[in-house]
Amino acid sequence: MIPIFHFYLLSSMPMDRFPILFLIATTLITVVSGGHDDFLRLPSEASRFFQADEHVEGTRWAVLIAGSNGYWNYRHQADVCHAYQVLRKGGLKEENIIVFMYDDIANNEENPRPGVIINSPHGDNVYKGVPKDYVGEDVNADNFFAAILGNKSALTGGSGKVVDSGPNDHIFIYYSDHGGPGVLGMPTSSYVFASDLIEVLKKKHASGTYKSLVFYLEACESGSIFEGLLPEGLNIYATTAANAEESSWGTYCPGEYPSPPPEYETCLGDLYSIAWMEDSDIHNLRTETLHQQYELVKARTINGNSMYGSHVMQFGDIGLSKDNVFLYLGTNPANDNVTFVHKNSLVPPTKAVNQRDADLIHFWDKFRKAPQDSPRKAAAEKQVLEAMSHRMHIDNSVKLIGKLLFGIEKASEMLSSVRPAGLPLVDDWDCLKTLVRTFETHCGSLSQYGMKHMRSFANFCNAGIQKDQMTEASAQACVSIPATPWSSLQRGFSA
Ligand SMILES: *[C@@H]1O[C@H](CO)[C@@H](O)[C@H](O)[C@H]1NC(C)=O
Ligand SMILES: *[C@@H]1O[C@H](CO)[C@@H](O)[C@H](O)[C@H]1NC(C)=O
Repeated sequence: MIPIFHFYLLSSMPMDRFPILFLIATTLITVVSGGHDDFLRLPSEASRFFQADEHVEGTRWAVLIAGSNGYWNYRHQADVCHAYQVLRKGGLKEENIIVFMYDDIANNEENPRPGVIINSPHGDNVYKGVPKDYVGEDVNADNFFAAILGNKSALTGGSGKVVDSGPNDHIFIYYSDHGGPGVLGMPTSSYVFASDLIEVLKKKHASGTYKSLVFYLEACESGSIFEGLLPEGLNIYATTAANAEESSWGTYCPGEYPSPPPEYETCLGDLYSIAWMEDSDIHNLRTETLHQQYELVKARTINGNSMYGSHVMQFGDIGLSKDNVFLYLGTNPANDNVTFVHKNSLVPPTKAVNQRDADLIHFWDKFRKAPQDSPRKAAAEKQVLEAMSHRMHIDNSVKLIGKLLFGIEKASEMLSSVRPAGLPLVDDWDCLKTLVRTFETHCGSLSQYGMKHMRSFANFCNAGIQKDQMTEASAQACVSIPATPWSSLQRGFSA
């Protein structure tokens, strides 16, 4: 049974770079610990730094959001909890931090430490004290937008906390989840489309209720959320974990180095996210600029130019990056005497896991560790097989629709073509939404894995494909929809 199972996985892998090969081989690369030696303590110099800007005008606000659920996505909620701790230590008040997380991790039956969430192998409990502003199905695009806009009447459920900001205030938004070209995921409801998010940011700017805003975004193809879409002049500075065409990476994963404690069968963090947070944990943020943090995060996230890294990008009003990080995140007084030294570009490469494969890593690790012939082993095997068959169904359906609409010769080029740098993914976002909805009606939800095909749908729109054509092609391609695996992963429009 086991060898056949291996063979099945290896021979049917629709995605490249699947990490199972090294899970089987389990050859750990030995790297020098990427310890936090990138700073010096110079007590005599420190005090003069933090007097100048001690009295920042206005209030600091933050919106933190994890867009996923499921134990295999542990890391996104762990990231958000960690971010909350960074901000509280930095001096932000709970009333000014709005947290969106599904909240199914700390007390998940798979969690080896009930009630505890960690974001690094030796990390503290980051779940402690995190407010449950928006949990479960209240984590959705409408509430996220309403919270940013400070529009309480647009909320459904939740604590009612919103960014009730004024013209001198500074806002920090941090999002961690799966994404795809032009989209970000939400745990149970429809995607966040880039165009809608940009409209919300423009509206917030037009309301005159902030001085400047920083957006840190972790997701696959996250550059596509802002590229060609976020204009200058909104006083918004954004950085993304990846460019518009690549995956972002989970880290502290089983079988990786550094790996989580052995009882954890899931990734604990994401590469870009832990890079900015572990940097913020140890530096005096009064003396570190956003630009310096960007450079450090970029150097760490590229991961030694290995295949397990991505290109951190910046968008919007780049000039804002001369601001100190302090203006947005505050700073932990314990780091007051830490002087910034730009030195962590030498952090050695770690192994990391493609966001889209982290679920398989979880099921595989569970399978590997479960006792022979146990129900747990059977369940884990079923989960891997269902995940794989869902992937194949989605991949094959999109390919077939491409052939039906563009012809066999041109299909693959038309599906994957990328517009020139600086252009958004698509011009007609309503078309994109309509075609995705049409596809999902006939073929089932794209779900977190299928978001990777969003560029193909954008290309259908860019080529002038109409809804009727998509209806016909989808109906032909998806004569029958396989029983949908993982109902909790169904995040399409149907939800
Ligand atoms: C707030 O949301 C409600 C409901 O969606 C909407 O009617 C109203 O125009 C919004 N208010 C503002 C100021 O945007
Ligand atoms: C920082 O250095 C000053 C001067 O040496 C000292 O008085 C203060 O206690 C130090 N603060 C911290 C948090 O270590």
